[in-house]
Amino acid sequence: MKSQGLPDDVFDGKPIIGICNTWSELNPCNGHFRQLADHVSRGVWEAGGVPLQFPTTSLGEPLMRPSAMAYRNLMSMDVEESIRSNPIDAVVLLGGCDKTIPALLMGAASVDVPTILLSGGPMLNGKFQGRDVGSGTDVWKFSEAVRAGTMTEDEFLATEACMARSAGHCMTMGTASTMACLAEAMGIAPAGSAAIPAVDARRSTVAHLAGRRIVAMAGSDLIPSRILDRRAFENAIRVSATIAGSTNAVIHLLAIAGRLGVELSLADFDQIGRDVPVLANVRPSGAYLMEDFYYAGGLPALMGRIRHLLDLTALTIDGDTIGDRLQDAPVFDDDVIRPITSPVTQEPALAVLTGNLCPDGAVIKVSAASAHLTTHRGQALVFDTIEECHDRIDDPNLEVDATTILVLRNAGPKGYPGMPEIGGLPLPRKLLAQGVEDMVRISDARMSGTAYGTVVLHVAPESAAGGPLALVRDGDWISLNVPNRSLTLEVDDAELAERAHSLDAPRPSSTRGYMKLYEDHVLGADAGADFDFLQGSSGSAVPRQSF
Ligand code: FES
Repeated sequence: MKSQGLPDDVFDGKPIIGICNTWSELNPCNGHFRQLADHVSRGVWEAGGVPLQFPTTSLGEPLMRPSAMAYRNLMSMDVEESIRSNPIDAVVLLGGCDKTIPALLMGAASVDVPTILLSGGPMLNGKFQGRDVGSGTDVWKFSEAVRAGTMTEDEFLATEACMARSAGHCMTMGTASTMACLAEAMGIAPAGSAAIPAVDARRSTVAHLAGRRIVAMAGSDLIPSRILDRRAFENAIRVSATIAGSTNAVIHLLAIAGRLGVELSLADFDQIGRDVPVLANVRPSGAYLMEDFYYAGGLPALMGRIRHLLDLTALTIDGDTIGDRLQDAPVFDDDVIRPITSPVTQEPALAVLTGNLCPDGAVIKVSAASAHLTTHRGQALVFDTIEECHDRIDDPNLEVDATTILVLRNAGPKGYPGMPEIGGLPLPRKLLAQGVEDMVRISDARMSGTAYGTVVLHVAPESAAGGPLALVRDGDWISLNVPNRSLTLEVDDAELAERAHSLDAPRPSSTRGYMKLYEDHVLGADAGADFDFLQGSSGSAVPRQSF
């Protein structure tokens, strides 16, 4: 440590604060994190600790293939082992882009030293031709417009520059914003931090204050396993419902709960979130963007509106309760953060489906679906792979109409592998030209939190693990009934048994390296797609010391 210029006595009696940084130029959403980490360091020094910044794997959604999700568990292992193996008393985690916050929390939860999660903040609102445009959400819209011939490619490229005009993560209520909000709702992130734009000086201030706070937490019992208890997860589910959070949050919360030994099931998301209205009028389920949400009062204001639904006794990193945090949290714009009497939608944002097509469950983001399709019966058009879908979807001779149900399989954790965000299958060009804007789509894949449509996701068991999705054939009738929470393949059991008998056993696609480990050990979406051997915690003790 002397080689870094630290005096002999710098460590005397001072807590060592790790600052776990997911900065990477390959992850533009976290590209400003070196400056953010420096603000945390300032606060740590000021409060009498020693800040030591360290890097970890960073997962950038736009660039990583086969999917950033394939590496979430790898990153969580890196985080866990980096914290445990080094002499760190407490840690500040810097996360932003979709998978980074869950991976950080999973890893830190398995070590269980005092922890603060600091998110990097959303980008400023996108502006295109005088109107607001949102990352992800409007990309999907505009890319369909290009396919339908109503937007040129040059215009499309111009929209990209208009959307990504500042540092930060997606400024829609995608997975990054959702996980930042849920970390705050669970009390493991600073109060009021989730929605502050990345480039707003107040985010640097929050980072500075987090540095101060973590010094006070070092050596205390304010550890993740105390803060992230069942109350915190129930609050997170309710907050996710009122922000119409990303469907990916379901998988991530299940995985984090699994590390902590908190009992949480897919059914909890339906039951606990069922009576919660959507109050955050933020895309893709609403009209505004995260910058507007912050100016309207941000998460504390929103949580204040549903305080009667929350467990106000849940602990926070400040040693107080969620209830204490909501004492004074006014709403400044009732159209962005709706009153409970005038919600964006009274319907639950998310529904968990069951039925013979998804015995272990599936999810649909009802708030981003078309109301007329949430009860729908149609015939299946099946794609074995996403590549096959792309090859065929624009074929003018494809037998498809607006009532057809598009089915994609082999896109789950094992099957792809890596459970990519491809569940929002493209609509056939000939239907787009007819003005069709949505169709029912079903898969064992995930979908971007910024996307929309009547899209059934996370079908479990996945097809590559022997799920019934593997048995669907073109022309089969499928019935989706969201109000009844059912998804039914209208094929009798005897016929399905016969089809299963003639099905080839799926073969793993990876023979070595991390992806082999992944395919061998990844659990289903209904269990958070964590590795079987990573569930639970090992604590912070290091079994042996070498001198
Ligand atoms: Fe990183 Fe959306 S691409 S948050």
